[in-house]
Amino acid sequence: MYYGGGITKLFRDEIESLKQKNLFREPKIISSLHGPEIEIDGKRYINFSSNNYLGLADNPLLKKAAREAIEKYGVGAGASRLMSGTLTIHRDLEKKIAQFKREEDAMIFSSGFMANLGVIPALAGSGDAVIVDRLNHASIIDGARLSHAKIFVYPHCDIQALEKILKRVSAFRRRLVITDTLFSMDGDKAPLPEILGLCRRYKSLLMVDEAHATGVFGKQGSGLVEEYGLSGKIDIVMGTMSKALGGLGGYVTGKKTIIEYFRQKARTFIYTTSLPPFLAASSIRAIEYIENNGRERKELWKKIKYVRDGFLNMGYDLLASCSQIIPVVIGRLDKTMDVHRYLFKQGLFILVIRHPTVPKGSARFRITIMATHTEEHLHKLLTSFKSLRGTK
Ligand SMILES: Cc1ncc(COP(=O)(O)O)c(C=O)c1O
Repeated sequence: MYYGGGITKLFRDEIESLKQKNLFREPKIISSLHGPEIEIDGKRYINFSSNNYLGLADNPLLKKAAREAIEKYGVGAGASRLMSGTLTIHRDLEKKIAQFKREEDAMIFSSGFMANLGVIPALAGSGDAVIVDRLNHASIIDGARLSHAKIFVYPHCDIQALEKILKRVSAFRRRLVITDTLFSMDGDKAPLPEILGLCRRYKSLLMVDEAHATGVFGKQGSGLVEEYGLSGKIDIVMGTMSKALGGLGGYVTGKKTIIEYFRQKARTFIYTTSLPPFLAASSIRAIEYIENNGRERKELWKKIKYVRDGFLNMGYDLLASCSQIIPVVIGRLDKTMDVHRYLFKQGLFILVIRHPTVPKGSARFRITIMATHTEEHLHKLLTSFKSLRGTK
């Protein structure tokens, strides 16, 4: 044994230290379907911690499409994409995504995380500069680290700081700027037109992550790139089918040539078994559904406004959020955990976001609104927070 006390002692100490700092995480086990209400230990809770924003995870049309695909293809794809794992349904989904996003082509990955881990190291390497927003998702940061490029981080949405970095990195072989379009923890938007303008001026590539914007923003529901009128103008647009699309799987879209290049280079595409066909089928149906039904999106936006107004009237700090992701910042972690336990007793399931996901001293609740929440659900949310603070 290389360590006195053995492997258990080595890692038990780390776990104990996390527990002492209130940073130990334990998943709650949910025994119902993933909707606006969930069951934990036999009790019902209102779910304000879901990325199933449109409620499509249990939409009957998506479930039917998945069942039919299981009958036709079975449950697994059997091999990686470049071996014998490319099925008609994979290509159908890629074409559907490209059309939805108004791009030339698309390719899919087994998750959004895998898309970022595959694409970023394919775009940049040693001798290149990758420039990221400080609040970008972990998968972007890890993709940047894997690439061996030099990483530059700019303060959240700070265009002047980004420009300063772009001036400094002009001698690097390739420059790649990456940003979430809708930030997953703060629920605010990146200033995309300005970022694109800078990338053009300083001859840098731009990659955006539409994970949380897809299905929620844009006239057709395809995301913030569409809402800003920038479809077809950004070099690389990635996203995931695990949030508003209700399933699982990542994707990247762009010009035909760049997608062809990724098929040769993205290791998380090449060296892993391809997406189960039933998930491809449900995602095709989800996109068709979003394109043809604005109803859920409208419902969602009505509910977002109701909840935001309620919190703002009570004097809560919602940062710069302008979306279905509503951060309610409490500050100190111990206080936030006390409130969390109180809300849980009240029947509300709301995730606490803490360091290192967010900066120390800014512990918060990440409340997410779904189109399928009822008025009673939202009323209960607001009255529970009101009872904590009283009106201002
Ligand atoms: C901004 C962002 N990008 C990528 C991902 C990864 O997506 P997936 O859950 O499909 O792996 C997430 C997931 O939380 C995300 O928030």
